[in-house]
Amino acid sequence: MNKIKFLREGIKNLRTTGTVTPSSRFLCQSMLKGIDFDKARIIIELGGGDGVVTRHILKKMHPEAKLLTFEVQANFCELLRKIEDDRLVVIEDSAEFIEQYLRQHGYEKADHIISAIPFVIFPKEVAGNIVKTCRDHLAPKGFFVQMHYSTILKSLYESIFPNVKTSFTPLNIPPAFVFHCSN
Ligand SMILES: C[S@@+](CC[C@H](N)C(=O)[O-])C[C@H]1O[C@@H](n2cnc3c(N)ncnc32)[C@H](O)[C@@H]1O
Repeated sequence: MNKIKFLREGIKNLRTTGTVTPSSRFLCQSMLKGIDFDKARIIIELGGGDGVVTRHILKKMHPEAKLLTFEVQANFCELLRKIEDDRLVVIEDSAEFIEQYLRQHGYEKADHIISAIPFVIFPKEVAGNIVKTCRDHLAPKGFFVQMHYSTILKSLYESIFPNVKTSFTPLNIPPAFVFHCSN
């Protein structure tokens, strides 16, 4: 999807998309920093959108690894399904159901969970429950990575994960923060 189309979808569905522009390559790089792609075999992406982060993950991912990408908007899922890569599974459902889909694909935990879900527009309890589900389904050395346009929810992540590292990416519209959370 080009930037204009993303902008149109973003405006139309702002309450679900949470942005009007896709993540820049600088933001994608920042989100994936520190992830050991040689070792990771099962990665979850939350809020795949038009697939910009998805493609970055696939480019780095091991040939035998799997990527489960959750996305609630049908039009974005259609685009994600056009990515021709057998390692990608597009899940047209909410991130709330991580456990169910992990099990369905034969896994108990994910090596890493990369999220662009706009939790700031979620009721706090719903956001907290999804983040707790992520924590509970993360492999021991795994990262839960979350991007946001502010640090407003940093305390939520700090209340759920013992380790939270924050980085800032100015080269994105709008500039963004990335939280690398681990157990
Ligand atoms: C900020 S966009 C990110 C798109 C893309 N990953 C990027 O970084 O440019 C957030 C995406 O999360 C999706 N989303 C919102 N709520 C969700 C949920 N509960 N489960 C899965 N995806 C969700 C939206 O539809 C939207 O595509």
